[in-house]
Amino acid sequence: MLYDFDRVIDRKNTQSFKWDKNIEYFNREDVIPLWVADMDFSCAEPIVEAIRARASHAIYGYTVRTDKTIEAFLSWSQARHWWLPAKEHLSFCPPGIIYALHELLLLLTEKGDKVILQTPNYDPLFDIVTGSDRELLLNPMILDGGQYRLDIKHFEQLAESGAKLLILSNPSNPTGRVFTKGELLELGNICKKHGMYILSDEIYADFTFGANKHVPLTSLPTDISSHCVSCFSVSKGFNLGGLQTSILVIPDKDLRERFNLSMGIAQTRLDNVFGTVAMEAAYRHGAEWLDQAIAYVSRNGSYVREYLEQNIPLIQPIMPEGTFLMWLDCRKLGMDAKQLELFLIHKAGVALTQGYEFGETGHGFVRINLACPRQTLVKALGQLHQALL
Ligand SMILES: Cc1ncc(COP(=O)(O)O)c(C=O)c1O
Repeated sequence: MLYDFDRVIDRKNTQSFKWDKNIEYFNREDVIPLWVADMDFSCAEPIVEAIRARASHAIYGYTVRTDKTIEAFLSWSQARHWWLPAKEHLSFCPPGIIYALHELLLLLTEKGDKVILQTPNYDPLFDIVTGSDRELLLNPMILDGGQYRLDIKHFEQLAESGAKLLILSNPSNPTGRVFTKGELLELGNICKKHGMYILSDEIYADFTFGANKHVPLTSLPTDISSHCVSCFSVSKGFNLGGLQTSILVIPDKDLRERFNLSMGIAQTRLDNVFGTVAMEAAYRHGAEWLDQAIAYVSRNGSYVREYLEQNIPLIQPIMPEGTFLMWLDCRKLGMDAKQLELFLIHKAGVALTQGYEFGETGHGFVRINLACPRQTLVKALGQLHQALL
């Protein structure tokens, strides 16, 4: 089936975080919201059908996941990532990946322990570290020739300083980098040498472009993967963020058991009734939609790049290898972070995610969400261009 990603769907008054907060957050209703990382596309038809079918039963009691759902994830992983995780390594965290990462951080570290994060990075990852009284060590990525790369030398220095843990965002939000197997091996070997764990947030694993294939961290050789956790979810790739699901691969038996125990104590082991149905449908029947969504978003990315080149060359896009986000270098506009934010909202009427939210290295940058009908981008970029004239 051919999906129509050009169709503009009115999301207002659907309790949408992205579309129903304009007045509260920006004090004007007409701002074009391109900040929250969900998609303005309707979901794959088989997912919608599966939810409809389940909804028609009209009893939504406590829900368990079935072997069929687990098998769907395993087959998906084999088909899309050429890797079959061991079934016994799987754990589940219905409240989502951030909840799981926080719980794992508490299990793996003590107060005062050092935890490394690359920057720029998704801000809740900073919060789970500092909010748990762990010491945050930043490993800024290097922007080199229009693309980010890891600063491995600096990372090793941080590892040598006694860090206990790395929390990795791969594919990286906001830079769109999809780290290569070589890069992951470098990180993994350093962590192995220094007895560090890696928690890998792979929420965007399914959304990568062209030759940039995602390599799950726990697919690396056992001497590395035994100290890693990979976190997956259908929320980004299939636009199911409001249904709250996630699947973890935890090869370390002891950690897995401790994690399962704490999930049990918190009564967070049972599934969201629609989340589990949607997850199975996505992994079983969602590939056709996903491939079309990736192609559409990729063309949106090219459109933004060409528009900026021709009309606003002072803003330089960092082309994403994965995710549906684009990181824009606005430093040549000559505004400080606050000026840029006010300018975008009040003069251009566009709400983007401000770079400073992603850490110190994000100052002067903004993140734009590409997962919307082309005409939304055309309008937003037109308003931005006008505001700069
Ligand atoms: C990198 C990254 N990790 C995690 C999340 C949130 O995941 P969850 O809703 O499963 O906690 C997001 C959402 O934007 C994200 O961008």
